[in-house]
Amino acid sequence: MSFSNTVIAWYEQHHRDLPWRHTTDPYIIWLSEIILQQTRVEQGRPYFERFLARFPAVQDFAEASEDDILHLWQGLGYYSRGRNMHKAAKLVMTDFEGLFPTAYKDLIKLPGIGEYTAAAISSFSSNEAQAVLDGNVFRVLARYFNIDSAINSSAGKKIFSELAQELLPAPQAALYNQAIMEFGALQCKPQRPDCAVCPLLVSCEARRLQLVGELPVKIKA
Ligand code: ADE
Repeated sequence: MSFSNTVIAWYEQHHRDLPWRHTTDPYIIWLSEIILQQTRVEQGRPYFERFLARFPAVQDFAEASEDDILHLWQGLGYYSRGRNMHKAAKLVMTDFEGLFPTAYKDLIKLPGIGEYTAAAISSFSSNEAQAVLDGNVFRVLARYFNIDSAINSSAGKKIFSELAQELLPAPQAALYNQAIMEFGALQCKPQRPDCAVCPLLVSCEARRLQLVGELPVKIKA
């Protein structure tokens, strides 16, 4: 079975049931993805629920006061995320007639939305074939393909993003993107991954060379 199909098959058996995985609404996906940046799922989940209850649509978010938003944000840190969300919601009202965009090329222009977030929202909401590249994906690819380029160097980022895009099965972009992130979070974990039960074990290069603990490589800032 191919790499992508193996990851998808694993996901179908092992994934967590998370609230933002039941929607294709780009506004709801945006809320979840911004909250989950630099935040663990268990910590972010109650914030996601509160934000969605308080601001059910992007118009509600745009019309809120910055104080309200930052108050709800309290405890998450990186308050610039909350401020950028407010700016982005207002831009959606003025520049997109209140319809949250689903296309990567539109999303990437909004404040607070970088390459990862634009790929996540466009693939999860409209199955656009944009590969996500977050810490989980870097780790899975670095290990499976034994890539020792630094994930925080520009040369390394280029290598990983080209590989990630080649591996993406376009008709299953949304499913595969969720799957590879979940695989990194639960199976190919940073510390002590349980390789004995990994479905990619037999073809994993880092495993064969006993380099699982050395990868991915990050250069000190
Ligand atoms: N972290 C960031 N995005 C996520 C998602 N869609 N599911 C689980 N964890 C995530």
